[in-house]
Amino acid sequence: MTTLDPALETHLLATREARLDSYLELLRIPSISALPEHTGDVRRAAEWIAAELTRIGFEHVEVCETPRHPVVYADWLHAVGAPTVVVYCHYDVQPVDPIELWATAPFEPFVRDGRVIGRGAADDKGQLHMHLRAADALFATRGRLPLNLRIVFEGEEESTSESMPGWLEANRPRLAADAVVITDTGFFEGNIPAITESLRGILYTQIDVTGPPADLHSGTYGGNVENPANALARIIAELKDRAGIVQVPGFYDDVIPVDAAARARLAALPFDEAAYLERVGVPALAGDAAYTVLERGGARPTLDVNGIWGGFQGGGSKTIIPAHAHAKVSMRLVARQDPVAIFERFRAFVNDLAPPGVRVEVQRLGAGRPTSTSIDHPVVRAATEALRATFGQEPVFMRSGGSIPVAEMFEQQLGLPVILVGFTNPDDNAHAPNESMVLANYETGIRTICLLWDMLGRDGLGESSG
Ligand code: BES
Ligand code: MN
Ligand code: MN
Repeated sequence: MTTLDPALETHLLATREARLDSYLELLRIPSISALPEHTGDVRRAAEWIAAELTRIGFEHVEVCETPRHPVVYADWLHAVGAPTVVVYCHYDVQPVDPIELWATAPFEPFVRDGRVIGRGAADDKGQLHMHLRAADALFATRGRLPLNLRIVFEGEEESTSESMPGWLEANRPRLAADAVVITDTGFFEGNIPAITESLRGILYTQIDVTGPPADLHSGTYGGNVENPANALARIIAELKDRAGIVQVPGFYDDVIPVDAAARARLAALPFDEAAYLERVGVPALAGDAAYTVLERGGARPTLDVNGIWGGFQGGGSKTIIPAHAHAKVSMRLVARQDPVAIFERFRAFVNDLAPPGVRVEVQRLGAGRPTSTSIDHPVVRAATEALRATFGQEPVFMRSGGSIPVAEMFEQQLGLPVILVGFTNPDDNAHAPNESMVLANYETGIRTICLLWDMLGRDGLGESSG
């Protein structure tokens, strides 16, 4: 039988208000990892979480230094004979611009229409908080956990986790575990409970095109001096063809074709393309017509310009040949695509495209490798049952187009199986104004986590008994 321990439900019902207060308190700390002026706030969030972990009953709680933002570690390892699970979430958040599009200040969270609205409400402080509250409920009702947990809460995920390979290496002994549960993904379209079976990797670059040492009068010099903004536009135009196929030589070499079984699984998902189009708010979808929306969004690589600037940006007109122009270009990678090798190919291709009258530089700003997880791991089976039992709906397996660099590190560097189970709603506006978390997902998800730990503690990693 798979149902939540009634004592946990009683405790969770009695503590609902305090839980929401604590959730909002965490969201008020502006832990933006990308912006140097928030370095102190990132640390403050780490310390807030560490204090909570201690109060809840975890041991060896530590705010661990890294070259950038701290990792919060804690454990509780007294469930003799039960499995050991590493729980990973991140407490850093994305920047908040464009701030004028927020309904209220991003770090003054509030509840409206059954959602918590604020930066980090979903990605990923809300989900981190769910793990805190689930453990709290277990410790408060029983004085112990049903299994062994090692907590790893990162402060740098939104800045490509550059410190994580070093931190994982240095902490190898205390990361010994049977599996890693990462709660930084979400539900399928229509808010259907989901387990994510793959994540894309990422390569993030910046192209800098430099022309004359200073802006030039475009009347006096136009026709003789290469324009860096025109040159950049031409380079960008060559990166993909009209069908959306990336033109970087060798880009697709290490892409493993989506096999018939995987295509069939994706095709079987309850996906409503019209509803998706409506929600996204564009006149038509784009991309390689040889693949479906779900294939293009989760199983195929892509390339996007994230930002582009240079020259005159004000109102009215100003006649110049700008001295320089820039673009941020990212690629989402799948299967065996290696961000290091792809970067070299990308840089060489961009340099080949550069006209002689400008200097072009390509910087690598970050990278993470793709991951795919085994969907028949015992923790996946238990998580499927726990989701079904608590949400009352059959969970689906999905491929996510997003990236969590640490997933591949846990797998390849530490050799641990990774399970991606998260609770955010697909319309959570993550990284955008008015980020939100559906409160029912948060509340029920806490129960899912409690039940999952209980099932793993009871059944171990053998066949789950159902
Ligand atoms: N939680 C997301 C990853 C994610 C996005 C999972 C969508 C499932 C669906 C994570 O915080 C994130 O935003 N990652 C970045 C990459 C990082 C290297 C900056 C991303 O995917 O852009
Ligand atoms: Mn995240
Ligand atoms: Mn994110």
